Amino acid sequence: MSRIPRNSVAVIGGGGNVGAAIAFSLIAKSVPAEVLIVDVAEKAAKGQALDISDASFMMPGTCRQATFQEAGQSDVIIITAGARQQPGEPRSNLIDRNYKIIKSIMDSLKPIKSTAKILVVSNPVDVLTDIAQKVSGLPREQVIGSGTYLDSGRLRNALSNITGVSPTSIHAYMLGEHGDNQFTGWSSARIGGHPLLEHPKMHDIELDSIYTGIQRKAYEIIDAKGSTYYGIGICAATIAEALLNNTSQVFPVTNYIEKYGCYMSWPAAIGSDGVEQSFDVKLNDEEAKKLETAVHAIREACEKYE
Ligand SMILES: NC(=O)c1ccc[n+]([C@@H]2O[C@H](COP(=O)([O-])OP(=O)(O)OC[C@H]3O[C@@H](n4cnc5c(N)ncnc54)[C@H](O)[C@@H]3O)[C@@H](O)[C@H]2O)c1
Repeated sequence: MSRIPRNSVAVIGGGGNVGAAIAFSLIAKSVPAEVLIVDVAEKAAKGQALDISDASFMMPGTCRQATFQEAGQSDVIIITAGARQQPGEPRSNLIDRNYKIIKSIMDSLKPIKSTAKILVVSNPVDVLTDIAQKVSGLPREQVIGSGTYLDSGRLRNALSNITGVSPTSIHAYMLGEHGDNQFTGWSSARIGGHPLLEHPKMHDIELDSIYTGIQRKAYEIIDAKGSTYYGIGICAATIAEALLNNTSQVFPVTNYIEKYGCYMSWPAAIGSDGVEQSFDVKLNDEEAKKLETAVHAIREACEKYE
């Protein structure tokens, strides 16, 4: 009897840093799936698949190199292919280069399994998720992006350091856009069922400096080591796990919000059908203005690629 798991997760761009970190995280998190590494750089894909398969011998998952056609038949298809930011470069700059790549990947994957879920990680993730949905032809609920999950994790770590409470018990989100127009949902943030800003240790905290620290972190990492990948590796693997195991966990991911008429980074419950429900978030006037700016930026970028 073969030990190949029944579910498969394809990582397109898996020869690169982010794709490999996601593939490794899937194996290390004990996700029982066959992880397929696909990349136009076939030698890099082969190397990552062989290396990660060494890590799988005591885990339920397996890992191998695969073709675009095989990836199109996977249960979850993760897209990490494309150009990455250079030091100091905003994510929005990558759009022209990565638009062409996303389009050609979607064509190479066809026919895409009708129940597949696509998780876009390449940047700018909110706009590329919109493009991937249109080109793939899959329903909106089945095409999502990693959105501000990583940024929200950075926020929760920072708040944990201040309050002394575990990051997993702090409910706070970065919202709107995974990019320079993201904002912190302070009004909706909760800790132990109470508004976060009422926590005694939050009273003297300069909120803008927390925001700036989160915004700068990716730039700081890229400046120091060229790219960021471990954080997004674990985030994307966790979302993929929710898609495979039907966990209905709530993540701030890129999903289509009818009320704002675009894909954006917003809390949604994720299960085996993709987006099961998304939520209204309580915003004050200042946050509502920031949301408007983010929505405007995403919609304007998406309209160029209709
Ligand atoms: N959403 C997030 O939170 C987040 C975090 C970090 C990085 N990223 C993004 O992830 C992407 C990848 O970053 P990286 O550091 O892994 O870059 P990388 O250069 O290490 O890897 C990119 C890989 O994509 C492959 N590729 C290019 N065109 C392809 C195609 N048509 N088909 C298949 N593979 C193709 C390349 O061969 C390469 O192996 C970037 O767009 C980056 O901005 C997103």
